[in-house]
Amino acid sequence: MIKIKDKEFVPFISAEEIDIRLKALGAQISLDFKNDNPIIIGVLNGAFMFLSDLAKYLNIPTEISFIKVASYSGTDSTGKVTDLIGLESDLSGRRVIIIEDIIDTGLSMNHLLKTIKSKNPKSVSVTTLLYKPDALKYDVAIDYIGFEIENRFVVGYGLDYDGLGRNIPAIYQLK
Ligand code: IMP
Ligand code: MG
Repeated sequence: MIKIKDKEFVPFISAEEIDIRLKALGAQISLDFKNDNPIIIGVLNGAFMFLSDLAKYLNIPTEISFIKVASYSGTDSTGKVTDLIGLESDLSGRRVIIIEDIIDTGLSMNHLLKTIKSKNPKSVSVTTLLYKPDALKYDVAIDYIGFEIENRFVVGYGLDYDGLGRNIPAIYQLK
């Protein structure tokens, strides 16, 4: 059990389980994008750890960059998405892989997909470490999922509760 501010969290997905899943995901993505030199775009802040670990299991040429978009405060979705910052790459004609920590309502990804698709990429694929199918409210097609989880708040491995917990090497669930 760990405590972050006022809340208690219990172990949910271990570092070993994450590593095993990432190996398989990395192998699948490497196969699917073998000759495409994709651009991988990590969504900050949450995806920093997932992307850095997943990237080590990609054995294909790839470019890596990050963008930032936020829709969350505390444990409830605020229902609004701020604009995206940091997208410098020319995406036209390129295959893009978006890397996200978690898809909850799908609002952030829905917004992000619209913005990225407007830059005329050849294709856009979505990879998320965690997916809460019961929370989904917006239309988002997800190509690669690490773990499908129930609709409970989680922290660790990049995910935060009020800014804290991102450095924890495993995933914990609200008690
Ligand atoms: P969405 O726009 O509702 O899909 O929310 C996506 C964003 O909310 C994610 O990128 C996370 O930053 C945050 N988020 C959603 N669920 C959780 C959670 O259980 N723990 C921590 N952050 C979450
Ligand atoms: Mg996020």
